[in-house]
Amino acid sequence: MRTKFVAGNWKMNKNAAETHDLLSMLVGGLDAIHTVERVVCPPFTSLMAAAEMLNGTGIGLGAQNMHWEEKGAFTGEVAPGMVKELCGYIILGHSERRAYFGETDETVNKKLLAAQKAWLTPIVCVGETLAQYEAGETAQVVASQTRLGLQGVSSEFAPRIVVAYEPVWAIGTGKASSAENAQSVHSGIIRPILTDMFGAETAQSIRVLYGGSVTAANAVDFFSQPDIDGALVGGASLKADEFLSIARVAAQ
Ligand code: 13P
Repeated sequence: MRTKFVAGNWKMNKNAAETHDLLSMLVGGLDAIHTVERVVCPPFTSLMAAAEMLNGTGIGLGAQNMHWEEKGAFTGEVAPGMVKELCGYIILGHSERRAYFGETDETVNKKLLAAQKAWLTPIVCVGETLAQYEAGETAQVVASQTRLGLQGVSSEFAPRIVVAYEPVWAIGTGKASSAENAQSVHSGIIRPILTDMFGAETAQSIRVLYGGSVTAANAVDFFSQPDIDGALVGGASLKADEFLSIARVAAQ
């Protein structure tokens, strides 16, 4: 049995004061849901405030991106070791980074290998665009992103990886994928690639999340699918009640 996993990707929302406010409403309720792995991912400048509030709780903290180099002349970038000072988790390859900031399967892979070295738990995002979906290219795109992004990972580290299937057309649109469609991508595309790369036992232990317009209302549909092991939540993670409800559904 894979432990369910619910992460909030706050994207570029919530400064330090707002992070404090949101977590004040969230921490007690979220901390009580022991059977689900729970993570929040605020912007870099809010991580310190979040780390202080999450100290002593069972709630994990993640960053939304990092560089793969350990240090050096990379203006504006943050190193794995810097993330590790505050966080246990790192989101890699989010579609917004792929679309707006030149993230490629190659850079995702470099970052993943750096996460392995720093022993950060990576949440690796894959997913097709609307044009690719409409052209029937979902399988090809998701398979290739998964394979290229995860290549070269050690067998010790592989079970720690979390994959998030986030169809780009479902992100921030209010039009979530159907649970059946997500299930079929998880079980028919992602899990077989993981099996091929790491063997059946490891592939069965890797959590595969769904992301894209997840709400408290539709979470139950997703979480009742056998290969949907949780959610990477955007907009709904900015509302304490909504995110708590989603985590509670995951615990059922
Ligand atoms: P929404 O839940 O706002 O659609 O965002 C999903 C997402 O991109 C999480 O990483």
